[in-house]
Amino acid sequence: MDIKEVDALIETALAEVAAAADLAALEAVRVKYISRNGMLPELMKGLKDVPNEGKREMGQALNRFKVAVTTGINERKVALESSTKSSKSDSFDLSLPGRWSGQGRLHPITQLIDRTSAIFRRMGFVVADGPDIETEYYNFDALNTPADHVSRDVQDTFYLPGGLLLRTQTSAVQARYMESRKPPVRIVCPGRCYRRDTTDATHSANFHQIEGLYVDEQVSLADLKGDIDYFARELMGPGVKSRFRTHFFPFTEPSVEVDFSCHMCGGKGCRVCKQSGWIEIMGAGMVDPNVFKLAGYDPEEVTGYAFGMGIERLAMILFGIDDIRRLYENDARYLAQF
Ligand code: PHE
Repeated sequence: MDIKEVDALIETALAEVAAAADLAALEAVRVKYISRNGMLPELMKGLKDVPNEGKREMGQALNRFKVAVTTGINERKVALESSTKSSKSDSFDLSLPGRWSGQGRLHPITQLIDRTSAIFRRMGFVVADGPDIETEYYNFDALNTPADHVSRDVQDTFYLPGGLLLRTQTSAVQARYMESRKPPVRIVCPGRCYRRDTTDATHSANFHQIEGLYVDEQVSLADLKGDIDYFARELMGPGVKSRFRTHFFPFTEPSVEVDFSCHMCGGKGCRVCKQSGWIEIMGAGMVDPNVFKLAGYDPEEVTGYAFGMGIERLAMILFGIDDIRRLYENDARYLAQF
């Protein structure tokens, strides 16, 4: 092989380098020309047979071959690598699964507010609302709660300057609503309440209640019982019954505490109902005539019932949540199961 042929070989090799479409093709070119078993070492071996006067030039030519092809291969390699990288990041693979951010859910408290409100709406109640920051009048006085009643104690109520407080019960909405409307009244009022409770597994200083009020001519305790029974079945399941235990609230007379038969064991006794077969659900009673008088209603003309229950309690019973704090920690992994 003479010098011209070596130079021609350089051209051929560089053309093949340029034509290599991917890294594997380029590697094949490298193996063919400059690897240990390639053309270049073979030509080097032949150098010893070249006559002395041409040896030096032939050596230089082979060196040119080596440098040119090695450089060409390295440059092509860099170019191929960067183009495969960019084609990867630019291309859009339709077969890849999408990025799923997870579907949001309603908080258990919101779910229970919605469910309970929906049941009462089917019974003809409308949803009413009132402020979280209340006056002493609506939270206590208008509800026939005398100034010396225990629930007014600063231990239980968050008092604010100017005769205001954070409402301790949604019952405050009753008085507001009646004051501005004539009977009949059929309202439910879900909302936040506040009490100076130390937080533990079953208490929170901020919690939710849903209140109900039905006022009309001749509303009786039997109406309360029938409506609560219906509510119990709708919320907890068809076999669930309610029972009344006598109690005291300043704004109702008579007053009762309402238990539902245990939806888990059907009343036989289990862990959920603490073996009693019954679960305490709400306070209720017939609206005290004094409350009507303060609202401007004539207790000789109308009667009514009222009830109130804790939303967190319902959520805990229905979803088997053992600690009220889990409802406020807002750990999405925990809450997503409900
Ligand atoms: N407001 C009472 C409470 O917070 C519940 C209740 C409401 C009782 C309406 C009777 C009538 O305990």
